[in-house]
Amino acid sequence: MGKLTSLKYSAAILILLYALTFSFSVSARPATFLQDFKVSWAYSHIKQIDGGRAIQLILDQNSGCGFASKSKYLFGRVSMKIKLVPGDSAGTVTAFYMNSDTDNVRDELDFEFLGNRSGQPYTVQTNVYVHGKGDKEQRVNLWFDPSADFHTYTILWNHHHAVFYVDAVPIRVYKNNEAKGIPFPKFQPMGVYSTLWEADDWATRGGLEKINWSKSPFYAYYKDFDIEGCAMPGPANCASNPRNWWEGANYQQLSAVEARQYRWVRMNHMIYDYCTDKSRNPVTPPECVAGI
Ligand SMILES: *[C@@H]1O[C@H](CO)[C@@H](O)[C@H](O)[C@H]1NC(C)=O
Ligand SMILES: *[C@@H]1O[C@H](CO)[C@@H](O)[C@H](O)[C@H]1NC(C)=O
Repeated sequence: MGKLTSLKYSAAILILLYALTFSFSVSARPATFLQDFKVSWAYSHIKQIDGGRAIQLILDQNSGCGFASKSKYLFGRVSMKIKLVPGDSAGTVTAFYMNSDTDNVRDELDFEFLGNRSGQPYTVQTNVYVHGKGDKEQRVNLWFDPSADFHTYTILWNHHHAVFYVDAVPIRVYKNNEAKGIPFPKFQPMGVYSTLWEADDWATRGGLEKINWSKSPFYAYYKDFDIEGCAMPGPANCASNPRNWWEGANYQQLSAVEARQYRWVRMNHMIYDYCTDKSRNPVTPPECVAGI
């Protein structure tokens, strides 16, 4: 083979490899809403759009609404793009969370988006429940208007930590510190849930700002549903398989870039941390001093 021919040959192989990789990652998602989810509350208030690839959630004086994954998962990554209620969204709460649904021993990983008056920042509250124990709220004011466009919200959950991402930026890390005697959710599969409802008794400025019903109905939009994880019931050894990509070396701790972004969020956008709330926690909870 001449030098030029072999160059052309390698280029062709590269292009082919690229095309294969690209087509696989594209064809795996986006899934339609009904592929992985079902309406769990108020059919009349969830509309499928774009051929089922996106949905609209509706909140009015009659009802909020909610949806849930058909399966539960033990470890994995779930993400979706959400466009939150625009304008005067005070008193509305949009939640996106994983929950084991096991009452007083439940595990839960929570994103809650707290609406605000027009022009005031949306707040994201995160919480973590392990074996029925929650009370780990943190709040971050978003550094962009989450109702102007879709943004990606992700929960990564593996044996090493649970990480909450806004786009690619980690805003919360709950590390597996079992070695220090701190409980970590790892036995109970969790479903994926989302709801839009009214909570003006606490959501905005601690309940001072009430919902303005003359602005209703309120709409939130979702698309690009993506769940990759071990569905339960399923193959018994799936969840413990170290070859699952979400258990891989790159996902076991924050990268240097992510760690820097995480510090930036905490320094510039965090408005509440249960770790430093001395009236609630005179003794700093152990997971707060265990580091990321
Ligand atoms: C709403 O806006 C106020 C005023 O800027 C701010 O203090 C608060 O953190 C924002 N979020 C909520 C949920 O009240
Ligand atoms: C509620 O919305 C209506 C209609 O936009 C407006 O006229 C009114 O001032 C709003 N009320 C409050 C308390 O913001």
